Amino acid sequence: MSLLTMLQTEHRNLARLLDVAEGELLKMEGGIECDRELLRAVAEYWREYPGQCHHPKEDLALEKLQQRGVLGPELPAAVAREHVELSLLNESLTRALDGGGGKQSAELEAVLRQFIDRNRDHMRNEERSFFPAMHQHLAEEDWEDLEFDLFDREDPVFHQADESKYRVLLDAILAMEERRAAGQGQQPAGEELQPGVTDWIADITTVAQFNELAAAGRLPGDVHLRAKPGKGYVLERGGTPITTIPTADEQRAAWCACYFLLGADRG
Ligand SMILES: [Fe+2]
Ligand SMILES: [Fe+2]
Repeated sequence: MSLLTMLQTEHRNLARLLDVAEGELLKMEGGIECDRELLRAVAEYWREYPGQCHHPKEDLALEKLQQRGVLGPELPAAVAREHVELSLLNESLTRALDGGGGKQSAELEAVLRQFIDRNRDHMRNEERSFFPAMHQHLAEEDWEDLEFDLFDREDPVFHQADESKYRVLLDAILAMEERRAAGQGQQPAGEELQPGVTDWIADITTVAQFNELAAAGRLPGDVHLRAKPGKGYVLERGGTPITTIPTADEQRAAWCACYFLLGADRG
């Protein structure tokens, strides 16, 4: 799977979580109490997955395109600015969720709308600007050459997150998919993902543990995580690579793989 396909898959996954958040926003706009825990889980997931796994891949791809001389400095600078803006928006959303004494507020509605709209705008911008440049100028072997150390130089912020928050998020995604599938007379795609999956994420410290859980059927699909020759890890499903994780830290790789599966397009 090419880096471009991975980034596109991750955009689809993130778009699904934005749909979940928008479902809560529509409830608020209709005067119905929103699910604050669910929104907190979305905000936290957003901070972890795009922050740790998605944006670093984009930054590396942009750097590569610049080295090739096919991109000027403007686009990478604009993408980097948007990544900062989105992370600040995420912080505002978290503050709005924690504030107001638990009461629903116009401020929360406004910041949530902005969070959803700006993230959708950002992904659309990337899909129109540098994704086509990647398609045109980068090949699979380029990804192999990318500097993984750049990713690993960052301070590890891989603290043991409260896994129950992810369980709330996962349950909501599954419920939403089930409702949608019922509406369309289809089998829910999320059925294969067991709701208990987040119980042991916090305990995973090695790739071997991740693979043991996968082999025991406790992760969706026939998944396997393996170290790539050189640096980094690749997550496979049924022997086919579904995402690359650019890190030399195996705990971080196992966590990224779990987060990927929590949001992954299982349809
Ligand atoms: Fe991005
Ligand atoms: Fe992106």
